[in-house]
Amino acid sequence: MSKRPKPYAISVAPMMDWTDRHFRYFLRLITKRTLLYTEMVTTGAILRGDKHRHLAFHQTESPIALQLGGDHPEHLSECARIGEEYGYSEINLNVGCPSDKVQEGNFGACLMGTPERVAECVAAMDSATRIPITVKCRIGIPGKDRLEDLSDFIRIVSDAGAKRITVHARIAILEGLSPAQNRTVPPLRYEDVYEIKRSYPDLLIELNGGIKTLDSASDHLSRVDGVMIGRAAYENPFLFANADRIFFGETDSPKTRREVFDSMAEYVTKRTEEGEKPSRILRHLLGAFHEVRGARLYRRLLTEKMHRNPEPRLLQDALRFIPSEYLDQRLEKEISRIGSVL
Ligand SMILES: Cc1cc2nc3c(=O)[nH]c(=O)nc-3n(C[C@H](O)[C@H](O)[C@H](O)COP(=O)(O)O)c2cc1C
Repeated sequence: MSKRPKPYAISVAPMMDWTDRHFRYFLRLITKRTLLYTEMVTTGAILRGDKHRHLAFHQTESPIALQLGGDHPEHLSECARIGEEYGYSEINLNVGCPSDKVQEGNFGACLMGTPERVAECVAAMDSATRIPITVKCRIGIPGKDRLEDLSDFIRIVSDAGAKRITVHARIAILEGLSPAQNRTVPPLRYEDVYEIKRSYPDLLIELNGGIKTLDSASDHLSRVDGVMIGRAAYENPFLFANADRIFFGETDSPKTRREVFDSMAEYVTKRTEEGEKPSRILRHLLGAFHEVRGARLYRRLLTEKMHRNPEPRLLQDALRFIPSEYLDQRLEKEISRIGSVL
């Protein structure tokens, strides 16, 4: 059986605290075909923590990649195997996170300094599973930030079995910058990622970093196999309303915002009955509207009430502030603009 992953043209990035199962459920109502990633889950959390809490997901979230954080081949291969059992489509290794905590554990971006170690991890994960193993990395780290270093890293890691490499097109600075600064301060170097694709034409290369519209994703796709969008997906999930039509050849009309929110209201009710705190879900919907009349009142009502045992109808009540014509609009023309058309 080939373990080559499907060539997803577009994906939503792994983001700690953001791309949890509730946000992914929400996104899935907007795009059925985009590849979604979990937040990074450390091997320790799976092997010694509440595995089910970290790994359970709703079947509609597929295709979905589980992102693991760790540096120990045996631990990673065990977690990859467990991830496969849970039904994940792919397992991804985080080689891009620059946080101090992650560095203390010797994983994330600092692993770019030891490609052989990453290769051992990838090989172990690959032999433990039947699903594709992929890697998300940076352009480099200080001292190893030339294109040749990245090229060596990619060769070593792909020889070990990584089938798709996502490159966040910035170096990670391991000292003196917060993770948030590490997503803005080092300059974007898209050209390096294009060059990697030219050097490894058979390898699936996905580009990440600073992409805010589907139009610009389309531009990059003439030079790489896939584009990963992070912050813009969280800040404006309806950006993806036309992703299935543009990138996956679907012909169905996108849902209206009201249709999506009606489904979310049902989801909030169901999950709350099962014991979830409504605020864990509703927090992801706070930023769903931009620049439209009533958005501030919508946000204020949700923020004020969502933590205090809210009424089941809280979401619908908040939506009353948003103009009907906006909620009922088919998003066919608003392909890639952030913000409203009203
Ligand atoms: C809140 C937040 C959490 C993140 N957590 C992760 C993570 O768990 N794993 C990871 O590989 N990258 C993580 N990232 C980085 C993103 O995956 C992505 O590489 C980065 O935001 C650049 O893409 P963008 O410019 O499209 O946002 C995180 C980013 C944000 C904003």
